[in-house]
Amino acid sequence: MAGHKERTFIAVKPDGVQRGLIGSIVERFEQKGFHLVGMKFLQASEELLKQHYSELKDRPFYPGLVKYMSSGPVVAMVWEGLNVVKTGRVMLGETNPADSRPGTIRGDFCIQVGRNVVHGSDSVESAKREIGLWFKPEELVVYSSCAHDWLYGTN
Ligand code: RTP
Ligand code: MG
Repeated sequence: MAGHKERTFIAVKPDGVQRGLIGSIVERFEQKGFHLVGMKFLQASEELLKQHYSELKDRPFYPGLVKYMSSGPVVAMVWEGLNVVKTGRVMLGETNPADSRPGTIRGDFCIQVGRNVVHGSDSVESAKREIGLWFKPEELVVYSSCAHDWLYGTN
């Protein structure tokens, strides 16, 4: 049961917002059966984005990445479910859309690594850190879904 409570941080990046892909990206997580516990639409500060991608601070693309991520609003979300971190990454596709298979978000919706429309946490630990960075505890909503038992076969 505890596994069903795993959480990941997913964000529609500024290009995904500008290109009208919010609904399509949210739809994939909804249709899969994951449980939405947090969502907000915001212009992220450069400081928040620097912290979010702090592990990449020594990479040559880091300044451009921070600029890209602060170039417009993003949709920040927390999704919950069994293996949601790993499955979420599979649903996103590879970092480079050119390596992403059709059927994945990046495989279907974008072309270039520097404009790859969506972010997803890469581990349970990263997810915890990122959720803490983007959301206050009271912004995460606890409720039960009528689909839960049908998804997990607990009925
Ligand atoms: P994300 O964190 O955004 O979900 O992406 P990721 O795990 O698949 O890839 P990561 O290594 O964490 O890189 C973060 C983002 O930086 C941009 N990037 N550009 N060679 C490049 O120009 C390059 N490499 C990475 C991408 O936007 C990538 O998603
Ligand atoms: Mg990453």
